Amino acid sequence: MKLITIIGARPQFIKAAPFSEMFREENEEILVHTGQHYDTNMSDVFFDELGIPRPDYNLEVGSGSHGLQTGRMLEKIEELITIENPDGLLVYGDTNSTLAGALAASKLHIPVFHVEAGLRSFNKRMPEEQNRILTDHVSDLLLCPTQTAVNNLKKEGITIGVLNTGDIMFDVVLRNIEISKSRYSNGVWIDKLREKNENIPSLKEKEYYLATIHRAENTDDEMKLFEIFSAFERMDKPVILPIHPRTRKLIDNLDIKLDNVILIKPVGYLMMLYLTANAYMVVTDSGGLQKEAYFLKTPCTTLREQTEWVETLENGWNVLSSINIDTILKTVRRELDCLKYPQPMLFGDGNAAEHICNAILKGGK
Ligand code: UD1
Ligand code: UDP
Repeated sequence: MKLITIIGARPQFIKAAPFSEMFREENEEILVHTGQHYDTNMSDVFFDELGIPRPDYNLEVGSGSHGLQTGRMLEKIEELITIENPDGLLVYGDTNSTLAGALAASKLHIPVFHVEAGLRSFNKRMPEEQNRILTDHVSDLLLCPTQTAVNNLKKEGITIGVLNTGDIMFDVVLRNIEISKSRYSNGVWIDKLREKNENIPSLKEKEYYLATIHRAENTDDEMKLFEIFSAFERMDKPVILPIHPRTRKLIDNLDIKLDNVILIKPVGYLMMLYLTANAYMVVTDSGGLQKEAYFLKTPCTTLREQTEWVETLENGWNVLSSINIDTILKTVRRELDCLKYPQPMLFGDGNAAEHICNAILKGGK
């Protein structure tokens, strides 16, 4: 079978790793990088660390408004589909790269396979929610990470081609956690952070918060960003914050001192796993990181009004917080009763890549 796979943003490189390896054993995959993320530490580092094959095409669309970015991708992906004539096209998640790939293929009657189908925040103002809904409605195979996602699709009348495969990010964590530990334990993580960043103080495992902030609903509102960073300043432990380029560009405008925040450049996946597994708590608005915290048994506070990953809320492993200094501080200082409870495994058996691969081989044209 010949498949075109579209990736373009950081979490998509990570998700693509196990599937590409498995699918290529007996099939042909044309890997297309849209160029949505392009900095070395937002893109190349993941290909190197996770052994993802080099993309066959890089569309180099770069940054821009939603319409411009998606439109450029759409035009170029359409051209590629015509040249390559694949049996199907695979997209991951909910970014502009996802939507452009799905739309281009659907219009040319090429079967669309959507990994991470069915997720909903029920907040249609989020660009990701728009991308997800539209992608799901033109997809032929809807590969869901959870039963909740299957149920969400059913409520929208989508039942054909829907399958719960488990979450491919769980596969990636299971494959890499031991590699990450052996690479970064015994203080090596601090030395490595110091090689790439200035002013890294002495830090110990479980004595820091790990934070990430990049969601448009938080970063595009200066007041919200101010509340978030003010809360970070007042936390009872230092906050390690690998800063997304979107947020980097915005915090310079904030009139705020950052004494308790250790700003670092975006890190590779293996370092991120180490930082997540060893944090006292993760504080984030990322989708993927909420789940990784859960898989690694690190409590999480999510700085959003909704989450698509409702399973992580059970027993208080993950708690949502609205964007207000006092609420954030109260939420991160909660009693961590969750540590007493086992976590129900609601994200599959760690072999999502295999289930996805089998489903696609049955579902291609
Ligand atoms: C995108 C996704 C979001 C996902 C996130 C993962 C959409 C609509 N959003 O958000 O769902 O959670 O990726 O990280 O697709 N920039 C750089 N260098 C880069 C990439 C981006 O400097 O390599 C800067 C540019 O100023 C750009 C801004 O970051 O305008 C935002 O990038 P963009 O890809 O548009 O959205 P993300 O916030 O990364
Ligand atoms: N991540 C990483 N380095 C970082 C920040 C995040 O490797 O500096 C990883 C993180 O562990 C997760 C993925 O990137 O696997 C999440 O991406 P992001 O938060 O950008 O997007 P989202 O999941 O919100 O779409």
